[in-house]
Amino acid sequence: MNYKIAVIPGDGIGPEIVNEAVKVLDKAGEKFGFQLNYTKLLMGGASIDVHGIPLTEETIAEARDSDAVLMGSIGGDAKTSPWYQLEPSKRPEAGLLKIRKSLNLFANLRPAYLYEELKAACPLREDIIGGGFDMMIMRELTGGLYFGERHTTEENGVKKAVDTLSYDENEIRRIAKRGFDIAMKRRKKVTSVDKANVLDSSRLWRAVVEEVAAEYPEVTLEHMLVDNCAMQLVRDPKQFDVILTENMFGDILSDEASMVTGSIGMLSSASLNETKFGLYEPSHGSAPDIAGKDIANPIATILSAAMMLRFSLDLDEAADAIESAVKQVLKDGYRTGDIMSEGCELVGCTRMGDLIAERV
Ligand code: IPM
Ligand code: MG
Repeated sequence: MNYKIAVIPGDGIGPEIVNEAVKVLDKAGEKFGFQLNYTKLLMGGASIDVHGIPLTEETIAEARDSDAVLMGSIGGDAKTSPWYQLEPSKRPEAGLLKIRKSLNLFANLRPAYLYEELKAACPLREDIIGGGFDMMIMRELTGGLYFGERHTTEENGVKKAVDTLSYDENEIRRIAKRGFDIAMKRRKKVTSVDKANVLDSSRLWRAVVEEVAAEYPEVTLEHMLVDNCAMQLVRDPKQFDVILTENMFGDILSDEASMVTGSIGMLSSASLNETKFGLYEPSHGSAPDIAGKDIANPIATILSAAMMLRFSLDLDEAADAIESAVKQVLKDGYRTGDIMSEGCELVGCTRMGDLIAERV
């Protein structure tokens, strides 16, 4: 089988980590008999440098015309990069938000899982970690504060900025369904996170989630306020299976969840629409400070590539093989700097990619 994959290397460490993911994908293709044809696309700062804007209509069309999109990371150092001299709507991040919205990628899956081998990197106490944890954050990605009406004005010398958080019931219903569907394939528990003690949008969220829950009698639903959830994630992360939440809360909680796994360098993500199409990217950023040094951890991107095989191309066996190869490489004691611990062998980005490809 042949598939068309749009590849967006992006900025910072993006190109390095994407190279390693492509290396591992090609190895899986050889082994499992499929071929991926890649089209490289520019987005973020890389696109600004060439086209003056972070995402062109042609790029969106190319991405839409593929079976899936594999992405590295976008953005630069906001203090030093000329990209941040531009108005906000022309900066690298605007490209990312635009591609999410244009391709209707409303369901963002961010798994946070503690690898047995990386327990030493986990900042939580042994008695809290217990037998480990394994959760899936289901973040709404095309609504809420990120896409609400916003403006900055000045009246009588006083500056004022407004952002709006709005959701309609259809937006909530479709992400809730995705959350419950995923829970059915896992431990059948959904924690819906909101701020229903203050926000109208959260009260609607809660009501619609309850409606959807009625269609999934096997799944246990609990509601949790977002501030409490932030606390519970470090107090007892084992309690979570699927965390279902709106855009902004999901942005914040997914960084927190990733940190308790020891390294954000390990965490993949998938952004899906109503079809099989999706965009796959690591949960971490572009880390411009370590770009080009061959020290970045490519594992989050490699695991995102595995998710791409699983969700968009139905190549489950190949996805399993990549995930096992990652586990094996950790068992064999190889580490990049971000997850390094005593007694292990420190390797760079390229070598980590080679070692994983060898084990596929
Ligand atoms: C993420 C990132 C983005 C977001 C930024 C880069 C706009 O933090 O994917 O979590 O806030 O969604
Ligand atoms: Mg974020």
